[in-house]
Amino acid sequence: MKVLVTGGCGYIGSHTILELLKNDMEVIIVDSLINSKKDVIDKIKKITGKDVTFYEIDLCDKEKLRTIFEKEKFDSVIHFAGLKAVGESVEKPLMYYENNLISTINLLDLMKEYNVKKIVFSSSATVYGNPQSLPIKEDFPLSTTNPYGTTKLMIETILKDLYKSDNSFDITILRYFNPIGADKSGLLGEDPNGIPNNLMPYIVRVAVGKLPILNIFGDDYNTVDGTGVRDYIHVCDLADGHVLALKNKKTGLKIYNLGTGKGTSVLELVNTFEHVNNVKVNRQIAPRRDGDIDACYASNELAKQELGFNPKYTIEDMCRDSYNFVKNN
Ligand code: NAD
Ligand code: WQD
Repeated sequence: MKVLVTGGCGYIGSHTILELLKNDMEVIIVDSLINSKKDVIDKIKKITGKDVTFYEIDLCDKEKLRTIFEKEKFDSVIHFAGLKAVGESVEKPLMYYENNLISTINLLDLMKEYNVKKIVFSSSATVYGNPQSLPIKEDFPLSTTNPYGTTKLMIETILKDLYKSDNSFDITILRYFNPIGADKSGLLGEDPNGIPNNLMPYIVRVAVGKLPILNIFGDDYNTVDGTGVRDYIHVCDLADGHVLALKNKKTGLKIYNLGTGKGTSVLELVNTFEHVNNVKVNRQIAPRRDGDIDACYASNELAKQELGFNPKYTIEDMCRDSYNFVKNN
């Protein structure tokens, strides 16, 4: 199978490409490098010993994107490309709507024109807003609290409408929970520019001395120890979910949660990180962060049943591999 991977130089895309190559799939990458670096391509080649084709193209440039559809005959698309910083999306909503929506509409339009009908799309647990109960199932009500999340929900709606208009499309929407961890090689990982917003990139920077102290946003949530609970999933398990989605015999429009089904609090994650890596993470309790919810974790039963999804990495593995990447880089 030949797969077009948009956003393939990014964190989740690059790890998924390792899995695709291990499964003998051929990979074409399109990335504008707006949030990634070209050296990821060499690292992928070094880890796998296999070649990939890379095009530095912004998906918002439809005519440039068309050249790839003309040149490469691929069977399916995994669409990771998009901007993902929640806070930035509140400050620059138009940039988020333009980048995430125009790119996707261009891609889908060209897929239709060139008769490429299979797509796997990166959605997010953010589309569940503040869930009514836990664990979160795929049929729970959807709502969003920031422009980033709204772009994900809008793209899900676009995909559903596209499918209604043309049911020869084979669409899989994957709703990721909180991906962390890195490939064992230590070559690929999450490397955000500037001060990180997400918890794990912040923890590792404090551990290596690049940031002085971790602010734990709130200790009065209705959770096991008062700190926020999330469903952290190893990025390599997430990558595996994409290969399973491509191989899925069930066609049509499908939606799956990709999480472990287990909640971990901020304090539990920080303490585990310290323990497995034998390193100190300075921390202090700080006020709650606007928009945060008490707890969020997935029911992954549907992905288990229909995809054979079976996440195998523990929180300990995730902490070890995240630290290993940052120490090496
Ligand atoms: P990332 O920023 O590391 O990767 C995204 C890639 O897309 C980057 O390489 C970027 O340069 C590229 N890109 C962005 N806009 C583009 C455009 N218009 N044209 C071409 N390339 C473009 O992010 P990630 O963590 O790997 O996330 C991948 C996808 O998964 C995103 O759509 C994100 O919203 C979604 N997601 C991520 C998380 C998370 O916590 N990391 C959770 C849920 C969903
Ligand atoms: C996790 C927990 C914080 C930083 C976000 C997006 C979501 C998805 C994944 C893309 C919370 C606490 C954090 C810090 C802290 N991304 N925290 N100190 O908010 O669950 O989800 O990333 O789709 O859309 O909203 O992840 O890693 O930011 O926070 O105490 O410095 O860590 O309050 O409880 P979140 P996160």
